[in-house]
Amino acid sequence: MTSTVGRLCFSNKTALAPMVRVGTLPMRLLALDYGADIVYCEELIDIKMVQCERVVNEVLETVDFVAPDERVMFRTCNREKDRVVFQMGTADPERALAVAQLVENDVAAIDVNMGCPKEYSTKGGMGAALLSDPDKIEAILTTLVKGICKPVTCKIRVLPTVEDTVELVKRIEKTGVAAVAVHGRMKEERPRHPVHCDYIQAVAKTVSIPVIANGGSQDWVKTYSDIEVFREATGASSVMLARAAMWNASVFRSQGALSVDEVIEEYIKYAIRYDNNIFNTKYCLCQMLRDRVESPMGKQLHAAQTNEEICEVFGMTDYYKKTQAALEERRAALQANHCHSDQPTLEGDIITMAVRFERREYPPQITPKMYLLEWSRREKLEQPVYETVQRAQDRAFQSTVIVAEKKYRSALWEKSKKFAEQAAAIVCLRTLGVPEGKIGEKNSGLVNKRKREEKRNGETGEDCTAAETAYRKRHITQSSQKEEEKN
Ligand SMILES: Cc1cc2nc3c(=O)[nH]c(=O)nc-3n(C[C@H](O)[C@H](O)[C@H](O)COP(=O)(O)O)c2cc1C
Repeated sequence: MTSTVGRLCFSNKTALAPMVRVGTLPMRLLALDYGADIVYCEELIDIKMVQCERVVNEVLETVDFVAPDERVMFRTCNREKDRVVFQMGTADPERALAVAQLVENDVAAIDVNMGCPKEYSTKGGMGAALLSDPDKIEAILTTLVKGICKPVTCKIRVLPTVEDTVELVKRIEKTGVAAVAVHGRMKEERPRHPVHCDYIQAVAKTVSIPVIANGGSQDWVKTYSDIEVFREATGASSVMLARAAMWNASVFRSQGALSVDEVIEEYIKYAIRYDNNIFNTKYCLCQMLRDRVESPMGKQLHAAQTNEEICEVFGMTDYYKKTQAALEERRAALQANHCHSDQPTLEGDIITMAVRFERREYPPQITPKMYLLEWSRREKLEQPVYETVQRAQDRAFQSTVIVAEKKYRSALWEKSKKFAEQAAAIVCLRTLGVPEGKIGEKNSGLVNKRKREEKRNGETGEDCTAAETAYRKRHITQSSQKEEEKN
């Protein structure tokens, strides 16, 4: 039997409900700041999550689950580790288990969404489609409960009758879940329809696991004290809020709500600090502005394309700059720490070294890439090929250069693609013991710009051998110029 020590308990709690686009890390942290006990992430679909890689983001101090297209699907941090519930959309027990196992060490519990009535969810048999397939519900929940150590929960909508709803939750309870969240609306009902507190009450009376009442934002919960009123009206153990929290997350604050403008400011701070997806940030801010979304401020927000522009709208440019500078400093410090040695090491089939391209260390218009290109030509090798990737969490670049069928790469990530390529070229040149064009480097005999110009003017550089001169005649003037322009 699984130990309950340190496990998230769902009795007598207030929770931030799962909300697509809204329930990302900034909103979850904000809800925790204001007093929420539990925070659910937005629903994440199992098919997408199962392809993700877990990446520790040292700059942001987060754990990221990154899709093959480099999108961060789920970002979390230590602060919420014991309180965050990972909600997934699934219709497949094995895939659900694979996802749960991927994230379970970074979250407090796993939830399955059985309430989403949207077609994109139901057509795949997920969300509210599960409500008419209790065998599937049972299979998914049983597989999860058996397969992971963290508590498993689910979130349902009520069925057309109280009796059917109660029967379903009894079956769900038998799977061993830690709690069930009940949104007191039927799948055909819209958010404006009244919530069926009596259905939730009947469920709460019947089962012994904690029932989390949901659906009260419109009619019941406007202030903190209303949360308890809604809990009593439903007889539930806990309450989960979606829209009320989205409109003003300080609804969780026992001392009373703060102004929306204050909440917006705190939200933006987290959004910048944790590099929240800009579309999600904008969506969330539009929801908070509510009627003001058509105001000049709302229109400016609509037009904003970057986090910096969002900050401008809300007069937070200074905060933006300070945070970026702090993150940049952290990134540099981490890189310096990683830069223990410039000895080449083998990572798989790639020769790596922790080096950076420092522009000031090279004469104007001279770059390691140029040196590598010229050296390759002299050695009658194919032209170096650069392959560059960009990572999602900080949009930094890393290049691999292929020379004579060997791969070279810097272990350090660079801010631009050009610099990443230069760093890769340095690794290659240093590994091969070939000069790289640095200021003060002993003259290599590889061509530099001055000499090329001399050559074009009919002079012969004094360091050049006859072979080199001949080689230059053949190749350099025709092709290096282009390369140089590219650099
Ligand atoms: C913007 C938004 C996104 C939502 N996304 C999800 C979701 O990802 N998963 C889910 O189970 N419910 C989702 N819901 C439904 C809410 O969790 C909740 O069940 C519903 O809004 C009723 O609660 P309320 O009256 O407190 O708003 C979403 C609701 C909103 C408003």
